[in-house]
Amino acid sequence: MSELVRFGVSLEKSLLDRFDALIQGRQYTNRSEALRDLIRRELVQKEWRKGHDVAGAITLIYDHHKRDVLGRVTDTQHEFQEVIISTQHIHLDHHNCLEIVAARGKAKMVQKLADALTSIKGVRHGTLSMSSTGREIG
Ligand code: NI
Repeated sequence: MSELVRFGVSLEKSLLDRFDALIQGRQYTNRSEALRDLIRRELVQKEWRKGHDVAGAITLIYDHHKRDVLGRVTDTQHEFQEVIISTQHIHLDHHNCLEIVAARGKAKMVQKLADALTSIKGVRHGTLSMSSTGREIG
């Protein structure tokens, strides 16, 4: 773990009040932890923008009865198998499936995979959670 450094921050009282209200709502126990997370969030966004190696999770909701949707989801995952770490399939109810695809690789490829999966006809909801391999966020 890296050395811990203390530094002073000057900001307007009104902004600090809003920050405190924000972090209280998110259950942070102190400002330092909230500030660390804000900085890491910016660093993760930079990793994605710069096309670095990233990690992320793609979440899909679809009705497996809809024609071809299951086959298309599977075909797409085979096409991108080099960036997929694992896939978890949960049968939510009689119709609905939840699929979580964990991916790691070049940002462009992971984004491409997310776009390919979420745009499949019959996928009713899809999200990409952009995260990090953890190497560049301290
Ligand atoms: Ni299912």
